[in-house]
Amino acid sequence: MQVLVTGATGFLGANVVRHLLARGDRVRCLVRKPNALVQDLPVELVSAPLVPRDQGELQELLRAVDGCEGIYHVAGLFDPGPEGARAMRDVHVFGTRALCDAAVRTGARRMVLCSSSVTVGFGSREQPGDEDTALDPTPVYGATGALRCYHDTKAQAEQLATGWGGVEVVVVNPDFVVGAWDVKPTSGQMIVRMSRRWMPFYPRGGKCFVDADDAAAAHLLAMDRGRPGRRYLLGNENLSYREFMDLVAEVVGQRPPALPLPDVAVHLASELVPLAHRLAPDRLQGLDAQVLRAMQQDRYRSGRRARDELGMPATPIRTSVEKAWQWFRDHGYC
Ligand SMILES: NC(=O)c1ccc[n+]([C@@H]2O[C@H](COP(=O)([O-])OP(=O)(O)OC[C@H]3O[C@@H](n4cnc5c(N)ncnc54)[C@H](OP(=O)(O)O)[C@@H]3O)[C@@H](O)[C@H]2O)c1
Repeated sequence: MQVLVTGATGFLGANVVRHLLARGDRVRCLVRKPNALVQDLPVELVSAPLVPRDQGELQELLRAVDGCEGIYHVAGLFDPGPEGARAMRDVHVFGTRALCDAAVRTGARRMVLCSSSVTVGFGSREQPGDEDTALDPTPVYGATGALRCYHDTKAQAEQLATGWGGVEVVVVNPDFVVGAWDVKPTSGQMIVRMSRRWMPFYPRGGKCFVDADDAAAAHLLAMDRGRPGRRYLLGNENLSYREFMDLVAEVVGQRPPALPLPDVAVHLASELVPLAHRLAPDRLQGLDAQVLRAMQQDRYRSGRRARDELGMPATPIRTSVEKAWQWFRDHGYC
């Protein structure tokens, strides 16, 4: 099958591309600038803009999509920086719209849209949230800010893609992904930081974690057997941050964190985040006041639908941390 993948120069996209190649699909990657994750792969690289600004750029995008039966729209970002809101709206909303339009015009049959668990409600460990759990974004993510914008733009992308018509769209909603090829790193930041120095505090909340290979496999399974218009949470183990950090500490050979992060420290830190972003934007990638607050809460979700209906594998998170650690070490991050 000939497919198009966006986001192949990033963590999750790189995993998806490797799974596609392993089963013999012909892969075309829409990239802005090739990097080491795609350079030596047997894939076709095209550099069309995801958000066409004029007729010429639209033709480039149409050529990129032309001949593809399936599209994996994995490109996306969480960016709390000053240009973040625009960048998130561009890639999530306008990029998704442009791809849906291009899919219909070129006759692509199916699209897998990579959204995020951020659009799905959550629950306790005993009763985790699922795809149908309601979510009121204002109390959870705030009325404004980067996390709210990430939520809103991902939710809009889901809504517009599943309602487009003319192309079958299946949505996958990854939770906290752990594994190899986290080039930036995104969710692997905690592993890299913990390997470099002792982190005495652990956030008091928890989250659902999923292996990067399992999440990638779920994209392919969603393309093959996902129900159009349906969402699939990609999550496996619900762990508190303390349990996750204990696990990471064991794997990387570091002391485990010892103390719960006090709410007052989170409050203070979240007040300082905007200033810190101005002073050291590169060191604080992905950090934002609402993210800090979210880490103090239990936000558990269930990936049962993806396991039961798609057959998503369920690799233990310890194995995912080991794979991530191995990859970070092999590539000079630690
Ligand atoms: N990692 C997680 O734990 C997690 C959890 C939930 C959802 N997700 C979702 O998974 C997807 C992939 O995330 P990731 O973790 O792999 O992030 P990543 O490593 O930062 O990769 C992001 C990818 O998106 C591409 N991209 C961003 N803006 C673009 C634009 N305007 N035009 C074209 N490409 C653009 C990037 O291309 P460049 O290399 O050119 O920047 C890169 O290939 C995103 O949609 C994200 O929201 C991830």
